[in-house]
Amino acid sequence: MNRVAGAELLLDRAGVTAGMNVLDAGCGPGRITLPAARRVGQSGEVVALDIQPDMLQRLRKKLAEQSVSNVRPLLAGIGEGKTTPESFDRAFLVTVLGEIPDKTAALQEIYRALKPGGVLSITEVFPDPDIQMPDTILSLARRTGFLITPKTGGFPAFTINLIKPERS
Ligand SMILES: C[S@@+](CC[C@H](N)C(=O)[O-])C[C@H]1O[C@@H](n2cnc3c(N)ncnc32)[C@H](O)[C@@H]1O
Repeated sequence: MNRVAGAELLLDRAGVTAGMNVLDAGCGPGRITLPAARRVGQSGEVVALDIQPDMLQRLRKKLAEQSVSNVRPLLAGIGEGKTTPESFDRAFLVTVLGEIPDKTAALQEIYRALKPGGVLSITEVFPDPDIQMPDTILSLARRTGFLITPKTGGFPAFTINLIKPERS
């Protein structure tokens, strides 16, 4: 996974920089969360959301071991509405979308949680059994109101960045 969809590559693709607030939805044990926390620095924050308590426990252990203080673990399913509206510059769904039963609710929550101009970066990796194909992602994105940017990468890992429009 780290060879084909490494954290630094995915942070670059999403344009994560110092001072940003980042939502890592379906963070697992923190493969993206920890590098994101380092990149945003003390002036930024990462909210690490996962539906599995075990994953957040593993993440908390790493945060303590590495003395990381700018990550806020959040036990929730994405789509349940536990995130703060218009609070994030970037959001990630990395090999998560296929595990979410109500994908529309998930994308709607992330749309609400992003600031205008914020980016949701979705990465899918072959041969994940839950992989979502670009057409499915694009159709969900259009229904939610996101602006679509060209896919980056390809096989075995691709990323699609979706932008929440600026207010007119
Ligand atoms: C394949 S892992 C990916 C973890 C991480 N994104 C990565 O790239 O290493 C999928 C994660 O999504 C989480 N997940 C599944 N459904 C979810 C939901 N509805 N809301 C939040 N997290 C969810 C799982 O608990 C699991 O930790």
